[in-house]
Amino acid sequence: MKIIETKNYAEMSKRAADLIAAQVLLKPDAVLGLATGSTPIGLYDELVRRYEAGELDFSAIRSVNLDEYCGLDGTNDQSYRYFMNTHLFDRVNIDPKNTNVPNGKATDFAAEGERYDALIRQLGGIDIQLLGIGLDGHIGFNEPDDAFTGPTHEVKLDPSTIAANARFFASEDEVPRSAITMGMASIMQARRVLLVANGNSKAEILKKALFGPITPQVPASLLQLHPDLTVIFCGDDK
Ligand code: F6R
Repeated sequence: MKIIETKNYAEMSKRAADLIAAQVLLKPDAVLGLATGSTPIGLYDELVRRYEAGELDFSAIRSVNLDEYCGLDGTNDQSYRYFMNTHLFDRVNIDPKNTNVPNGKATDFAAEGERYDALIRQLGGIDIQLLGIGLDGHIGFNEPDDAFTGPTHEVKLDPSTIAANARFFASEDEVPRSAITMGMASIMQARRVLLVANGNSKAEILKKALFGPITPQVPASLLQLHPDLTVIFCGDDK
């Protein structure tokens, strides 16, 4: 495990973008595992900047996102598909056909999970998986539970996650109550994992996840067993 502490959000975003950019340069048709949330926004801006500067080419890149809210389709501005289009996909030369997000409008989420895992296998697995971390230790939407779940699956969101994500919605009532998320298997099988965390509020859970016992009550703690994990953290910008 490699832990990098940066002095501010801008530096965290640049260091994280370095790792994604290196992957894109080394393997132009790499499979990028991507995340939403507020933490990676600066990193996506940095990738766009490097693309506009002619340093990166996404034309053969494939991507798989971690998760999507159940019930929202890609035109809904709160959906994770919409987030990815807005923050990255529409701003670089990635082929939209090569971008994948679980289908929040699926009628059968068990079947959608199987489809998504089969797709990841068909793509040859994930070269680098980007993760944020929730205040309760979730990664993707793998919430604290009695056991780790391997496959892509539907989850009921934890009340603390609903409260944390309410900031993106008109009110807490509008936050979807469930989501479909990549499970721990695809995340752990990614050849490389990059976890970014921003803000002093994340310091305690990060410490628990990286140095505490490995337990499904802190889903991110399983990452301690990943052979190639990089964590980039910054406290609050002063
Ligand atoms: C997003 C995701 C979540 C977030 C986490 C942290 O696709 O899977 O696990 O990474 O909730 O979110 P932020 O970055 O908003 O603190």
